[in-house]
Amino acid sequence: MSEPFPPDLEASAAKRRALELNHRYVMPGRVEAFVSWGVPLVMGRREGYCIWDLDGHRLIDIHLNGGVFNLGHRNPELIETLRDSLDELDIGNHHFPSQARGELAERLAALSPGSLRYTVFASGGSEASDIAIKSARRATGRRKIVGIDAGYHGRTGLSGAVGDDSAARYFLSDSPEHFVTVPFNDLEAMERALSPGDAAAVMIETIPATYGFPVPQEGYLPGVADLCRRYGTLYIADEVQTGLGRTGPLWAVERYGVEPDILVIGKGLSGGVYPIAATLLGESCSDWLRDNGWGHVSTFGGSEVGCRVALKVLEITTRSETRENAERVAARLEHGFAELRRREPFLKGVRQQGLVMGLEFEGKAGALQLLRPLYEHGIWAMFAGFDPSVLQCKPGLLIDLALCDELLERFESALRAAGDLKGEAQSEVV
Ligand SMILES: Cc1ncc(COP(=O)(O)O)c(C=O)c1O
Repeated sequence: MSEPFPPDLEASAAKRRALELNHRYVMPGRVEAFVSWGVPLVMGRREGYCIWDLDGHRLIDIHLNGGVFNLGHRNPELIETLRDSLDELDIGNHHFPSQARGELAERLAALSPGSLRYTVFASGGSEASDIAIKSARRATGRRKIVGIDAGYHGRTGLSGAVGDDSAARYFLSDSPEHFVTVPFNDLEAMERALSPGDAAAVMIETIPATYGFPVPQEGYLPGVADLCRRYGTLYIADEVQTGLGRTGPLWAVERYGVEPDILVIGKGLSGGVYPIAATLLGESCSDWLRDNGWGHVSTFGGSEVGCRVALKVLEITTRSETRENAERVAARLEHGFAELRRREPFLKGVRQQGLVMGLEFEGKAGALQLLRPLYEHGIWAMFAGFDPSVLQCKPGLLIDLALCDELLERFESALRAAGDLKGEAQSEVV
């Protein structure tokens, strides 16, 4: 029997047991990391934009698991939809045509830009990314995929090899000969990568999440789309984190006037209650769907109850009240964080596109160091994995102004409490 974990944490027996079981049987490295960061969180109750630790500690959730909980935790309309669907349906059989899948695909086509028409369903964003890559390769007959240095598209075989491939290298599933990267916001580097005319696709997050949401420079994304057209390369937009109204329009590419050939979506499509993800394919890369009915199969991809939930997610997300609320809240947070920045220079900068925000802190690991004070002051937020100086701040579309104000107050208290960490934040922590 291994040592009880964690050895010296004040916590209830229930929380200790959860930590111990996860340490022993699930993911020891990850549990140890969270405990060492001062965030020994085990989710208990959850409602709206708050979660409660098993011991009852309330936290405002601005991580939302990358937008999974865009519409809040346990959104009552989504729970009702899921319950109703279970009176009639189950996962369904992925081999057959299905009413629920057909209706969701029809809605996605209607709501998506350009020629995007077909939906290939997946059970998660990584699988949806794989489908995008396979479709681009099949359509072009080329293997090379161009990604962004700090891009993240998942952890399956193909998706993990695009962009930052350190995890793929760790598992010997990288393929540098077919997956190349260029820096974000650098059109010249993109042209150098595309000009040999051998790239099947550029795969790019509209605002790279794991890199801390750097804002695309004026003209950058349309410039990438132009280069793609010039060199016969397809444009894959990964909107797993930026889609579903988080930046204003339903898809963030619409903000930049880009019509992708392929759109990858996930996370929030699930409403946080039933896993589902999807790859939307335009005319330029959908021949295989006519040619080969079983080219991609996924037992749980497009489960029927998940489709019903996703349809409701789209309905709520596209309501005018939802959009107006998101705009109001984004403006309040923009103002609030700008004020906070004046008072607390440890907050160095704010990157913002609607409700997609990256908060830049002093030091290489400033945001990582802030995790504990934020947790202690009732906020759950996560640093950007590829840049721990940036905190991802992704409040949900339905959050109200009162909770935003509480968030800003708690944030300021956490920053004050973190005062004496500032020096340390200059040094490398991860
Ligand atoms: C931009 C982006 N693409 C793809 C994925 C992979 O999604 P999943 O974890 O559902 O496989 C993620 C997950 O964080 C993501 O942020």
